[in-house]
Amino acid sequence: MPTLFSQPDSSLNSFASRLLDWFAENGRHDLPWQQHQTDTPNPYIVWLSEVMLQQTQVTTVLPYFARFMESFPTVQDLAAAEWDLVAEHWAGLGYYARARNLHKGAKQLVEVIDETGEFPQTLAGWEAISGVGPSTAGAIMAMGLHHYGVICDGNVKRVLTRWAAIDGDITKSATTKDLWALAERLTPTENSGLFAQAMMDMGATLCTRSKPACLLCPLKEDCLAHAQGRETDYPVKAKKQPKPSKFSDALLIESADSEILWLQRPDNGIWGGLWSLPLQFIEKIDVKTSSKATGKTDAKKPASDDKPTNIPSDVRSHEKVYETEFTTAEQIINEWLTKNKLAAQSVSKSLLDDAPIKHSLTHFHWYLTPQKLTVDAAQILELNEKLAAAEIDFKWLTEQTAQDSLGLPRAMEKIIELLQ
Ligand code: ADE
Repeated sequence: MPTLFSQPDSSLNSFASRLLDWFAENGRHDLPWQQHQTDTPNPYIVWLSEVMLQQTQVTTVLPYFARFMESFPTVQDLAAAEWDLVAEHWAGLGYYARARNLHKGAKQLVEVIDETGEFPQTLAGWEAISGVGPSTAGAIMAMGLHHYGVICDGNVKRVLTRWAAIDGDITKSATTKDLWALAERLTPTENSGLFAQAMMDMGATLCTRSKPACLLCPLKEDCLAHAQGRETDYPVKAKKQPKPSKFSDALLIESADSEILWLQRPDNGIWGGLWSLPLQFIEKIDVKTSSKATGKTDAKKPASDDKPTNIPSDVRSHEKVYETEFTTAEQIINEWLTKNKLAAQSVSKSLLDDAPIKHSLTHFHWYLTPQKLTVDAAQILELNEKLAAAEIDFKWLTEQTAQDSLGLPRAMEKIIELLQ
């Protein structure tokens, strides 16, 4: 009988048992958040780890997860923690909105628990928590509560588009709908948690993006992409627009005893809630083409992600600060610098002049150039007064103390490393 799917019923029906047999023999069973070997699963652990794993690989997450569990062993501990402490624990994992959602989500969960005596027990209940989408909610239902739950994250989509040769663009909602329908059709009513864990393992260890290990795969007999020898043509995804580039100076405003001014970023926007050096976004005008520097010209292309990069001097010399990107604190600092005719200097002519740090965010590449300015006690007093009057959160700390005690985004760590 024909089915809704490109695979026959016999294949659809045997998918789960083949996958689960493979998982029992070859899957990962020692990840610290896994709950499939206990009868009393802990949804807090699954929720926390799933949020961490949303855009980050297992090996990167492991030490972060361990530190979170040590400092915040329960959702109540996480909800009661100061944001700065949470940010410090998250710093370096990237996609900081996840950390803000996690903290907010912990507070929401504690509210639910205070009202009902337990964690949310339904898919809708979990989807109502900040930062929890349909797949994460399904994962928590299945793995964190041992209820029925379906997952359809990036790994699952890769496995399913290959196995069923689904060639629709996975960024389109029609394809997403088909993939969810297939995931639901394949997920067994019993043991959906084990199935979810097995699908994740399969996607992460066998059915990988560029070099799938098809010979070891329990689904190779009826994998349609494999039959065509076209595994890596799936999933089909619309090409991303190239990312634009932005350029900033990162100001090291330093006191005589080597303390530097740090600002807490506003909650909305880049690095919300984390601490950063004051930044000045620079519009670079390439004199050769007289167009804005958007990263499209080869001259400004970086050599690699972390290494300092040269920007041609004819570009740097035609630059203009763009004020729309200032936070209130940066605006105050900039006006104060202008009023006092103070200008920050390149940190070291030989190493760092015109050699910014490249940092890539979701929507743009960011080139940060550290610039130093030493200020005296009277100037610090004046600046402090201005910042305090505007209720800005700021601190004067040495690079080391800032690293040890503040939630710093990775780009700030890169600057500190470069200066040491
Ligand atoms: N990726 C997302 N969730 C995961 C999990 N629970 N185990 C391994 N990889 C994952």
